[in-house]
Order: sequence, then structure tokens, then C-alpha cells
Amino acid sequence: MKDKIIVIGGYGQVGQIISKDLGELFPGKVFAAGRSYRKAKEFCDLSKGNVQPLQVNVNENFLSDHMLKETLVVVMCLDQQNTQFMERCFQHHIHYVDITASYEFLTKVRNIKLERSPLQSSAVLSVGLAPGLTNMLVKHTIEQMDEVNSADIYIMMGVGDQHGKAGIKWMINNLDSEFPVIENGVEKQVRSFENGLKTEFPNHLGHRKAFRFNFTDQHVLPHTLGIGSVSTRLCFDSIVLTNLIALFKKVGVFRLLKIRFLHQITLALFEKLSFGGDIWVIKVKAEGYINSKKAIIETSLHGHKESFITGKVAGFVAKELYMNKYPQGIFHIEELFQPKELFKSLRSYMKLESI
Ligand SMILES: NC(=O)c1ccc[n+]([C@@H]2O[C@H](COP(=O)([O-])OP(=O)(O)OC[C@H]3O[C@@H](n4cnc5c(N)ncnc54)[C@H](OP(=O)(O)O)[C@@H]3O)[C@@H](O)[C@H]2O)c1
Repeated sequence: MKDKIIVIGGYGQVGQIISKDLGELFPGKVFAAGRSYRKAKEFCDLSKGNVQPLQVNVNENFLSDHMLKETLVVVMCLDQQNTQFMERCFQHHIHYVDITASYEFLTKVRNIKLERSPLQSSAVLSVGLAPGLTNMLVKHTIEQMDEVNSADIYIMMGVGDQHGKAGIKWMINNLDSEFPVIENGVEKQVRSFENGLKTEFPNHLGHRKAFRFNFTDQHVLPHTLGIGSVSTRLCFDSIVLTNLIALFKKVGVFRLLKIRFLHQITLALFEKLSFGGDIWVIKVKAEGYINSKKAIIETSLHGHKESFITGKVAGFVAKELYMNKYPQGIFHIEELFQPKELFKSLRSYMKLESI
């Protein structure tokens, strides 16, 4: 019977939230997978049989034919190098949820979208906090407008939060990246941790300067929601750390991250950072028109523990695909789901505010 759910990276920082939640909803049907059977088993032993362990390395081996036949949903919780695993899921009509924050991977997916449609299952990308809740907050904000010119996304991350190794690696790899953004419908190149802008954050956090960062929401939303200009900026709850990173960027320190051992030292340092809190905040400022008058709307969401909320968003999407019928094809979260239903299901873990 096609009724199994496999969470790849299912005992990692984000994956464990998803495996646990889905295991409670569908006991015995959920598998937490990763390269280490021992780690998977240790995690699953705590779930009282709700979740089962599975050893998979997405770069080396696929799931067995038997497993592929019986699987209805795969949730991918790591950044993949290519789309082979995803395509294998499509061949077996498996619904697919991906929390990746990698723009490179999404670009590769865009190419298979063109070659392979129509699919016989649903794939949902941009699932999590950023991308994910950021995409949905933009959709929610612009729903109140007749016409939208721009959406600026601001993200604050808590330095003291427990971030997974893969998530930290993604952030370090992007400290010195150059990437395109869409401004007034035209593509232009920008760089991480440059073009700082001050904005007011909710929850008495005050005005903070945030800097450009290569989050995928800004690449996707001009196409999925038809917005002429979208940007995403990042800061940390520690003003000192935010300013220090901006300074290091300015003087070219991050170019040294290409040297392997310096990259590894930086990764270890970021893993050990223990000051600051575990808050996350996203804010959207949208400009456009309401009743032919210029309008600016600012909204925000905030909560604690970004891995936790990322897992909760992914759990919501996976549960929906498991239980209900959705259009077949590859979508970003905002193309298949309504902000109101997602926000309602997560209301105990986060607060929605208009600023
Ligand atoms: N959308 C969002 O808002 C958002 C937020 C946070 C994180 N993320 C993304 O989510 C991903 C996971 O983050 P995380 O914080 O949970 O990281 P993590 O704690 O390092 O978890 C990664 C998991 O993947 C497994 N894994 C690694 N390579 C694998 C492979 N080749 N085959 C199978 N399993 C493999 C790891 O276990 P083993 O090493 O034992 O195999 C581990 O369980 C990252 O890619 C990050 O960019 C997205």
C-alpha cells in the first residue's frame, strides 16, 4: 500500500521536528532517514515505535524499489547537489516536500520543471521559515492591496538559537556570495551583507540595520506573485555581531572562506556561538496602491527557535499532501496554500502583527 512517509535528514535539527509530528499523526508509517543507521535508530527509539529508522545517502543510493512503491510522501531536509533523487520520486508518483534554502538547487529544479511536466504527484518547494513563512507573509501582506510595486523582506535570527550544521554551512557559504535580484522587473547583481537598510522590528526590538542575503524567496516571488521588486535582508538579534559581519564583509575577510580549513574553523565558531537569544522575526514591507492611492503595508511574524518553526511548516505541508488531493506539478508554498490556513495552524508557536 502506498502510505509511507520518508523524512530524509529525519533526525537532523529540522527533520526531527517533522518526523516526530508526522509519527504522532500517522504512527508506524513514518521513516526518519539519514546516512547513519545508528543515529536514526537512537532517535526513533525515543518515539515509542511511531517513527522507524532508515539508512539512505541521497548522493549514493536511492530507496529500494519496494520502498519507492510504498511511499506516498518524501520530505527532504538537506541541500542536494542535483535533482536525481527528486526525479526518482516523481517516477514513482511520490509527493515531494523540500525545505532547502539553496538557490542553486531551485535553479536546477526549474529546468526539470520545463522538461518533465506534467507530473503525477505534487512537489512543494520553499517550505520552512525563509523560504516558507516569508513567502506566505508576502502573499498575506499584498492580498490587502489592489496593486503591488515592491516587497521588502527583513529577517532577524537569534544567535543563541540551536541551528543545524547544514543550516549554518548554508549561511557561511553565502556570506560572500553575489546573486541576482529583480528590481522594477529588471535583474541586477548584488552581494551578501551589503546595501544595509534600517527598519523597525516588532516586539520592542526597535530599529535595526539589515543587509542583503541570498534567501531564495526574493528570487521566486517576482514570478509566483508577480511583484516587480523583491529584496530580502538579514540581521541578527546581536547588533554587535551584525555590524562585525558587515565590517568583515567590507574589508574582504570572507574571501578567505574559500580556503578549506578557514571555512571549517568558521563553521565550528558559528556552531559554538552561545550569546543572544533564540528569537526569529520576519517583517514584510509592501508598497503599492489601495483604491488608487499610494499605500505601504507592514506586517510581521515572530516566534522562537527557527528549526522548530521550519519543521512545523514542513509538517503542515507534508500532512496536507498525505491526506488531501492537490494539483500535480512543482510548486512553491505560496502557489498551493493560503496564508490564513497555515498561520492558523501555527498560531500557538508564532505571532502575526501589523506594524
Ligand atoms: N526553509 C528554511 O527556513 C530552512 C530553515 C533551516 C534549515 N533549512 C535547510 O534545511 C536543511 C537541514 O538543516 P538542519 O538545520 O536540520 O541541518 P542538520 O541538523 O545538519 O540536518 C541535516 C540532516 O541530513 C542528514 N544528511 C546529510 N547528508 C545526507 C545525505 N547525503 N543523505 C542522507 N542524509 C543526509 C544528516 O544526517 P547524517 O549526517 O547522519 O547523514 C542530518 O540528519 C539545510 O539544507 C538548511 O539549508 C531550511
